[in-house]
Amino acid sequence: MNVMLFPGSFDPFTRGHRDIARRASKLCDKLVIAVLENPSKQPTFTPEERVELIKLSLINEDLNNVEVMSWSGLLVDLYKQLGCCASVRGLRSETDFRYESEMALANRLLLPGYDVVLLPCRDDLSLISSSMVKEVGLYGGDISKMIPAEIIDIVKEKFSKGRTQ
Ligand code: PNS
Repeated sequence: MNVMLFPGSFDPFTRGHRDIARRASKLCDKLVIAVLENPSKQPTFTPEERVELIKLSLINEDLNNVEVMSWSGLLVDLYKQLGCCASVRGLRSETDFRYESEMALANRLLLPGYDVVLLPCRDDLSLISSSMVKEVGLYGGDISKMIPAEIIDIVKEKFSKGRTQ
């Protein structure tokens, strides 16, 4: 069975992430979406909240080969544990390509059999990022085009709490 890993911080999951999940799920027998820690980012949502947001985002999709989990530790250790054939990541720009290439090289140093499939984003989703969602959301702006409709109320509520704290 071909298992692919879609790792990320997903803080929060965006419409761009969901599009990559949809497309990647067609390339393998099982797709595991894993919430991981990115030490260079300060998360807004807890890992448990992020897992829940991803599950809710996929609730109306017909994706029966997708699992969602969180993992605290190195990506390659999870990859090995799940017996993955590759990871998958979305590419929005040249900057992403550099970042992904460096991350792939680092992961390959840790685990020589490691591989990654880079999927170019859909044109209309290429400007969306979790950081942009957070910036716009924290100032009370409209994030409805950036994140799945299924999670808008929860995400908005989190940001409105952030504004009053
Ligand atoms: O969505 P992001 O923030 O670009 O995802 C980055 C992530 C979480 C995949 C990366 O930071 C990661 O793999 N974190 C786990 C720790 C690890 O294995 N670091 C070495 C990667 S080079």
